[in-house]
Amino acid sequence: MSQRSLWGSKVGFLLAAIGSAVGLGNIWRFGYMAYENGGGAFLVPYVVALLLAGIPLMILEYTLGHREKAAPPLAFARIDRRWETIGWWMPTIAFFGINLFYAAVIGWCMNYFCFSVNQAWGADTGDFFMNTFLQVSDSPFELGGIRWPILAGTVLTWVISWAICFREVNHGIEKASMIFMPLLVVLTLVLIGWALRLEGAWPAIKEHYLTARWDKINPFTASGSKVWVEAFGQIFFTLSLGFGIMIAYASYLPKKTDIVGNALITSVLNCLYSFLTGFAVFGTIGFMAASKGVPFAEAITSGPGLAFVVYPEAINQLPTGQTIFGMLFFLVLIMAGLSSAISLVEAFCCSLIDKFDFDRKKTVTWVCVLGCLGSVVFTTRAGLWILDIVDHFVNNYGLVTGGIFECLLVGWVLKAAIARKHVDQAGGVKLNKGWEILVKFVTPAILILVIGFALYSEFSENYGGYSTIALLVIGLGWLIAALIISFILMRYPWSGAKLGREHEPEEDHLLV
Ligand code: PHE
Repeated sequence: MSQRSLWGSKVGFLLAAIGSAVGLGNIWRFGYMAYENGGGAFLVPYVVALLLAGIPLMILEYTLGHREKAAPPLAFARIDRRWETIGWWMPTIAFFGINLFYAAVIGWCMNYFCFSVNQAWGADTGDFFMNTFLQVSDSPFELGGIRWPILAGTVLTWVISWAICFREVNHGIEKASMIFMPLLVVLTLVLIGWALRLEGAWPAIKEHYLTARWDKINPFTASGSKVWVEAFGQIFFTLSLGFGIMIAYASYLPKKTDIVGNALITSVLNCLYSFLTGFAVFGTIGFMAASKGVPFAEAITSGPGLAFVVYPEAINQLPTGQTIFGMLFFLVLIMAGLSSAISLVEAFCCSLIDKFDFDRKKTVTWVCVLGCLGSVVFTTRAGLWILDIVDHFVNNYGLVTGGIFECLLVGWVLKAAIARKHVDQAGGVKLNKGWEILVKFVTPAILILVIGFALYSEFSENYGGYSTIALLVIGLGWLIAALIISFILMRYPWSGAKLGREHEPEEDHLLV
């Protein structure tokens, strides 16, 4: 077995982990959620979710990866062989469920980056996005041919991901993150500064983003409790938890490392980035609403609609610098997206290499070719619909089940006390005993509640108005396919003595 490479520096690791966490979701999802769910008051459930689920789970994933020096399948199997399928499920669903469409969305951003040059989207940006650019078909089953410009952007995304992941982490992902992340911060700050100076920006930010509407977050009302559940879901997604990514990244940490400190820095900086980007989003939309004389509520939206319809519309209204502003915005999206995409590729490849001792370069090449082929479905005219359904199911169920199983595995099978001893022995900030209670009881209980809510709304109303058959075949089908793949991968025997415990961490002998 070849020597496992390590991150070259603590900063390199942190930038890579933050790069994974900071993604499209920070830019197009957080601000809207805050707006819908109580403005400034939303920060309360958000921070509570960060403290009760986000940070404890980040610590858990770092601990697991660091202790076992392995991606999820091997890490899980070492603790208990029967859990290996779940260990595969996490990176598999991350790869097939997220990476494939994430690459297509980055492909959209690349196209829009080029459109920014002359605002090719024209006056009716909504019509352009749906009918000229995506040329959406009528249903998820009507593929209607490939959209070549989207395919071109998607292939380019895969080529870049391949070029970065091809080399060992300390040369590939670490070096790329050292460039992407500082650049991302600078560009985002420029974007925020610019947005804040636009007319109508501040009043909109104050009124819609920062003003706390406390009644909205009252957990004892039906809509208030939904806000809390959504805050937990968002924390999970935004911190890239439940996919095994942070486990894989932490597996390359040196023996002595500050697990708690790293987890705190990653989580807090990611959330701070979301909060700050909200100023750019609200400022720009506030400006557009004011200059067109439309109510703010009509202008704001979330997801692709925000990035590809509302933002271009706002850019159209700018008195000067339309091209630069547009390119800046889409470059921010591309960079935030790419640094997350490479983490998805890495988690899956690292899992395969752990198990089969494949050559890294060959593995990354094959995985990227396969991924690129898989992404083609998202470049068809039904791409938007399929993406929406897959995203909904993977985020609401795939990710949260991963989180629940992690808590159970570490909290109960390995034992939280042993994990905590490991953290303390690794050095750095000591872990409070309260963490054990969170991981064993509080976090899994909350996550089960989150799934319960999701299931309840699933059965009360078809998501997004899609047909039941489309939701079952595409959404549920995707989850089941990932499970089958995980099962097949698990069936292969382990090579060498990897599952053996010759190098058992000392703390296992310290009885709890
Ligand atoms: N954290 C990313 C975001 O906020 C999404 C993501 C999840 C990326 C999981 C990679 C893996 O957009």
